[in-house]
Amino acid sequence: MLWPDTVDHAPDGTLVLGGCRADDLAAEFGTPLYVFDEATLRSQMRAAREAFQAHSPNSRVVYAGKAYLSPAIARLAWEEGLGLDVVSGGELFAGLKAGVPASAMTFHGNNKSEAELREAIAAGVGLIAIDNDHDLDLLDRITAGTDLDVPVLVRLNPGIDVHTHGKIATGVIDSKFGIPIWNGDAALLLERVAAMPALRFRGYHCHLGSQLFDAGAAGKAIELIMRFAAEMRDRFGLEPAIISPGGGMGIAYTGATEPSPYDAWARASADAIRHACAVTGMPEPILLVEPGRSIVGRAAVTLYRVGAIKRIRDIRTYVSVDGGMADNIRPTLYDAVYTAELANRPGGPEHEIVTIAGRYCESGDVLITDIDLPLLQSGDLLAIPATGAYCLAMASNYNLVPRPAAVMVRDGAATLIRRRETYDDLMRMDLLPTTN
Ligand code: LLP
Repeated sequence: MLWPDTVDHAPDGTLVLGGCRADDLAAEFGTPLYVFDEATLRSQMRAAREAFQAHSPNSRVVYAGKAYLSPAIARLAWEEGLGLDVVSGGELFAGLKAGVPASAMTFHGNNKSEAELREAIAAGVGLIAIDNDHDLDLLDRITAGTDLDVPVLVRLNPGIDVHTHGKIATGVIDSKFGIPIWNGDAALLLERVAAMPALRFRGYHCHLGSQLFDAGAAGKAIELIMRFAAEMRDRFGLEPAIISPGGGMGIAYTGATEPSPYDAWARASADAIRHACAVTGMPEPILLVEPGRSIVGRAAVTLYRVGAIKRIRDIRTYVSVDGGMADNIRPTLYDAVYTAELANRPGGPEHEIVTIAGRYCESGDVLITDIDLPLLQSGDLLAIPATGAYCLAMASNYNLVPRPAAVMVRDGAATLIRRRETYDDLMRMDLLPTTN
């Protein structure tokens, strides 16, 4: 599956999302436009929760907000029974603004500031994931002389290589994330945790990487962590109430891949926990999972307007659109491959292999290389599916182009959830020094 659940086409061939015609959306809100389908968001959130609960009745699903933390989406996640994984003071702030209780949030990061940790603790965050000794130093300073009781997870690096782009593999030996198990560092850190009375040890976390297709990797990580957990129980009396293999579930970006359903991840994780508990004699910890991409990725489609079309004979046809690397950096950064569809009319019989370029002053600003599409005209609308995750979240103001708007569609109605930036927005942080 590639498009949102509600994808359809009007009799005249126009793309319809959530009951809204693409041409109407573009006319009302402008382009580029990120169109989020509420039905898909809710169905993915429900699917995740139900799959994990079916295999581990005590499991908890938290939405990894880094994929796209719009308050509107965070609120949906909370309504659908998901918590929130935040990774900065800003994400914590957005989650609170959306009405998600801090107690339902997990605070992550490999270099949290003291100020962010203080904010998280003051808000009453549900869990802080300790990534390294520096986190512990800061927590020591913050809690000294107080009667604070801070619930923590310890993020381990299990040293597992996964098949994904090198820039999004995180559980490998050479990683800035988590504390390595294999060289003894994790055991030393656990000894410190055990000696800090202000910390309430809740369990272990790891995250192997993103855009993964092998559910077995999560099971393998859990197995390694549970083995380590048994050792720590024997040495320091620390028993995990929670175990988290993070997120990472892959999605389809073109018709060529079929992702594993949540059920496969839920089964692999639950089986690994049960097996490890049987071997070690530990009580079953709660399974905590943090999907991001798989919740929001397929829920959004980006609408771009076609502008310049440049046919370089015998070389390539460049079709330029009004967005590009500043709203979707993924092709440039990770060689991510997307597909597109003509959205405002049925294509004619003639078609052509084209390259969809962005509007930014950079040769690498290409969204799709070599895609076979009906003959396009300037003014056409192009729709790129599976753009809900890590696109707007990583958007920039490169070339001082205002960032796009986002709408949520449902039953034929579209609601603006992020307005398009204005030139004034672009200048709001800049100050012109006075000359004397
Ligand atoms: N938990 C932790 C601790 C994470 O670091 C991440 C993602 C997730 C959960 C959610 O992973 P997901 O289910 O979304 O795969 N910008 C990259 C992806 C970076 C992922 C960072 N961490 C991309 O566009 O592919």
